Amino acid sequence: PVLVVDFGAQYAQLIARRVREAQVYSEVVPHTTPVEEIVARDPAAVVLSGGPSSVYAEGAPWVDPELFDASVPVFGICYGFQAMAQAMGGTVEHTGTREFGRTELAVADGGGQLHHALPGNHPVWMSHGDCVTRAPAGFTVTASSAGAPVAAFEDVERRLAGVQYHPEVAHSPHGQEVLRRFLHEIAHIRPQWTTASIVEESVQMIREQVGDGRALCGLSGGVDSAVAAALVHRAIGDRLTCVFVDHGLLRAGERAQVERDFVAATGVRLVTVDARQRFLDALAGVGDPEEKRKIIGREFIRVFEQAQRDLQAEAGEHGEHIDFLVQGTLYPDVVESGGGTGAANIKSHHNVGGLPDDLRFKLVEPLRLLFKDEVRRVGLELGLPETIVHRQPFPGPGLGIRIVGEVTAERLEVLRAADAIAREELTAAGLDRDIWQCPVVLLADVRSVGVQGDYRTYGHPVVLRPVSSEDAMTADWSRLPYDVLERISTRITNEVPEVNRVVLDVTSKPPGTIEWE
Ligand code: XMP
Repeated sequence: PVLVVDFGAQYAQLIARRVREAQVYSEVVPHTTPVEEIVARDPAAVVLSGGPSSVYAEGAPWVDPELFDASVPVFGICYGFQAMAQAMGGTVEHTGTREFGRTELAVADGGGQLHHALPGNHPVWMSHGDCVTRAPAGFTVTASSAGAPVAAFEDVERRLAGVQYHPEVAHSPHGQEVLRRFLHEIAHIRPQWTTASIVEESVQMIREQVGDGRALCGLSGGVDSAVAAALVHRAIGDRLTCVFVDHGLLRAGERAQVERDFVAATGVRLVTVDARQRFLDALAGVGDPEEKRKIIGREFIRVFEQAQRDLQAEAGEHGEHIDFLVQGTLYPDVVESGGGTGAANIKSHHNVGGLPDDLRFKLVEPLRLLFKDEVRRVGLELGLPETIVHRQPFPGPGLGIRIVGEVTAERLEVLRAADAIAREELTAAGLDRDIWQCPVVLLADVRSVGVQGDYRTYGHPVVLRPVSSEDAMTADWSRLPYDVLERISTRITNEVPEVNRVVLDVTSKPPGTIEWE
């Protein structure tokens, strides 16, 4: 792989994704990884990421110069570029000129290998206080900016290069080409990481792990568990059984989507557990959001465990045993819990609403090396429909946390109807990819006066909560076109008799969360 050394900025994962977009497999490793360990992994190249530090700061992460004697291609970015310059005998100075944001890059004649055939002047995204004032011996300086006399250097012979700016961000329009040129033209790595190769390698790995064993997968209706299940099914066929718990807090059509569309696309063996009444009983009389979440989580585990036991008993009758549980853990979860490939210290990530710790299963995590966009592409490659692959996030506790107040069967019906209309109209307006998600919330304990025809109504409001976001950590409210809002409002108040008012949530996150509970 290409190893991206993480110097503690938020960019390392993004760099790893960009490397993969150049069809080269990459992983993130912490900067505390000893050079011997890095070299022992025989990396195709090493990328030193940006970081928050100054190379002069006390305790600043440093680059062991031995890295540059190991005949490994190295690309330094921002802090990594400065650390590289310093480790190899160049000069890094605190000149007092800082550059933040959009900066004009002046490319030297010809551009060298990195900036070959790119415009002589073009914008890049900078974020630095210190700068390199003299490149190390053997390097050619190929670009500069007002605040960075050495903004790019390269030593093509030794396959070493670096840039002061951030090529990985979208604000550097030629950045991806520069990264690609480093990987393909300087490091001479063959682009082989394609969706087809991901599928092929994943299937191979699953077969090796599972052998002729049997596996179980909980489907949530979400993208990750669906793609994980489809991959495992491709690898071991009917030795995989999927379990789908219908807790009655689903949106209109979701159960059918799993039972019909997912099964049609994959041929997976699916068991649906209808637990609707059980969840309603458990939620009766409960209005507190945290209490509701706890109850839903607890009941989910109980139902899932019972399904496991039933299936186990059934399989046992045929002398078989289910040893493996499939989980849709993604690479960012693996990086964030401090683990690398095969590391033992990884928290197992629970994407099905929290599974118990004392599982007697071994985990199969076919997506643990993949980013979300790769997961979606793998899903399409495996023939899953767009409706599943590009599904927006939906919380595990479902509509249960979108009814403010007690959850009852009637209220669920009302919310499901209103939510279906909002989703239909957003889809019809072609807005699904523009928004992150749009919860519809029923204020079940609030009533307001309205008029419909000649009659006074006394109904409930629903709240539309359309948001845009990159990762759900922060979000902004989406500026939906007025005509779309109008259609949603008119249709909901006309078609759902219990609702006589539609309101729009215009709160960003923070301070508001995306969900209301
Ligand atoms: P909040 O409301 O915290 O939501 O801003 C952030 C994102 O997480 C989703 N969400 C959940 N997803 N189980 C889930 O799988 C949950 O309990 C849960 N609660 C919130 C929410 O829809 C949003 O995308």
